[in-house]
Amino acid sequence: MRVRLSPSFTIFAFAISLFATIRTDAAVANEPEKIAGPNACAECHKQETEAWKGSHHFKTFREMPRNLEANKIAQRMGVRRIRAESLCLNCHYTVQKKDDKDEPIAGVSCESCHGSGKEWIKLHSSYSGKTAQTETSAEKAQRWKLAEAKGMIRIHAIYQLAKNCYGCHVVPNEALVNKGSHQAGSPFELVSWSQGEVLHNTWYSKGKANVPANAARKRMLFLVGLGVELEMSLRAVAKATTRKAYAFLMAQRVDRARKQLAVAAKNAPNVPEIAKMVELAHSAGLKLNNERLLAIAADGVSKLIVSMTDKYDGSSMAGLDSMIPGPEKFKGTPRKPAAIN
Ligand code: HEC
Ligand code: HEC
Ligand code: HEC
Ligand code: HEC
Repeated sequence: MRVRLSPSFTIFAFAISLFATIRTDAAVANEPEKIAGPNACAECHKQETEAWKGSHHFKTFREMPRNLEANKIAQRMGVRRIRAESLCLNCHYTVQKKDDKDEPIAGVSCESCHGSGKEWIKLHSSYSGKTAQTETSAEKAQRWKLAEAKGMIRIHAIYQLAKNCYGCHVVPNEALVNKGSHQAGSPFELVSWSQGEVLHNTWYSKGKANVPANAARKRMLFLVGLGVELEMSLRAVAKATTRKAYAFLMAQRVDRARKQLAVAAKNAPNVPEIAKMVELAHSAGLKLNNERLLAIAADGVSKLIVSMTDKYDGSSMAGLDSMIPGPEKFKGTPRKPAAIN
């Protein structure tokens, strides 16, 4: 990958970080021993599974090992077998522990986004041992609370869902980008990337429709998405140690996100957290070996996102609508539900 270093970015190589890593931010923390696998989900979630099967997330499992570019990247990284070494597995596959061995069983699948499922799969669907009709609302609340405590990422948890997307799609790995020439992440945006081929809101409609996010939810997806882009790209810059493509491209991501957030802050002045995120994003220099300060900024952004998701539901943020990508920008098309349930 060839990159022209823009003079507007100064990435200094002389500051040496004396501080230990505060926290890892690596993407998806799937635990192979807790993976139930997409076939287990498919027993009940047939429509959702069909939608997933039409996505790049599904196809990467079969296609990656045959992909010429993938093999070149792997070779440059010293990875001999893409499906047997963890570097590529982290983001392209779902890995399950079988007979004491880690085995890739699928591409990016249900649990890559909703959390490793073994400990909550029975629980979330059990209606507390009753039926959907006889379970009390207190029991239902308790069931969801327990499922979440066991690691389930539900649909209201936009921040956690988004963090998984960006954890993979920012590609916060310096060696993979600089040495492997892997793309430095995707030009990711949460509304347009979640409402196309990835959309599978067919469960609560009982398979009658693949229901797109409504206006209020779209605003939350958009805003939280921008916040997480900022958080994850700050963390990615924090890991930059050499003046090469990775440092530059990740710094560029931060700059783009904070510019967009500055516009959002103007459009939604009733949401003061947005301007605070922008301020934080300017509080740490986008330079090499600046891990401590950049991580502090990222942690601050994270707290602001959490407080926004606690406080708002998007209904008061119509000011953002002009910024939100429309269907013509969606990545792929949503699957139409068909009679298979
Ligand atoms: C035995 C059937 C069954 C299996 C297997 C199953 N689910 Fe579910 N799932 C349900 C039911 C039932 C609900 C809705 C519960 C309700 O309405 O309170 C649900 C709801 C959900 C929801 C929506 C949660 C929300 O926020 O409302 C998600 C996400 C989900 N399941 C993911 C999964 C994943 C991922 C797997 C595999 C690891 C899985 N399910 C396996 C039956 C199942
Ligand atoms: C941090 C997460 C991450 C890691 C680690 C990772 N990838 Fe990727 N990879 C991605 C994402 C995200 C995309 C692009 C998705 C998009 O924008 O379409 C991608 C795209 C690709 C593509 C181009 C898309 C295609 O299938 O044609 C190839 C090839 C690829 N990766 C190979 C590899 C190989 C080989 C490894 C291991 C050496 C690896 N990746 C490790 C996240 C990752
Ligand atoms: C790429 C991440 C990702 C993958 C992979 C994924 N989901 Fe989801 N899922 C989401 C997101 C995000 C939502 C909420 C979408 C929205 O807000 O429009 C969701 C919503 C759902 C819902 C609620 C649907 C409704 O009617 O509202 C269910 C059930 C569900 N997923 C189950 C599954 C199952 C089962 C799989 C695997 C076959 C799966 N998901 C794969 C991210 C994912
Ligand atoms: C475990 C890592 C991982 C997670 C989590 C993840 N993705 Fe992906 N995604 C990938 C990889 C890798 C590819 C590229 C697959 C390929 O083409 O080989 C991809 C491809 C895509 C594509 C297709 C892009 C194209 O080029 O057309 C979309 C859309 C997408 N992801 C959206 C999402 C959304 C939305 C979320 C969160 C709700 C999400 N992804 C979560 C790894 C991930």
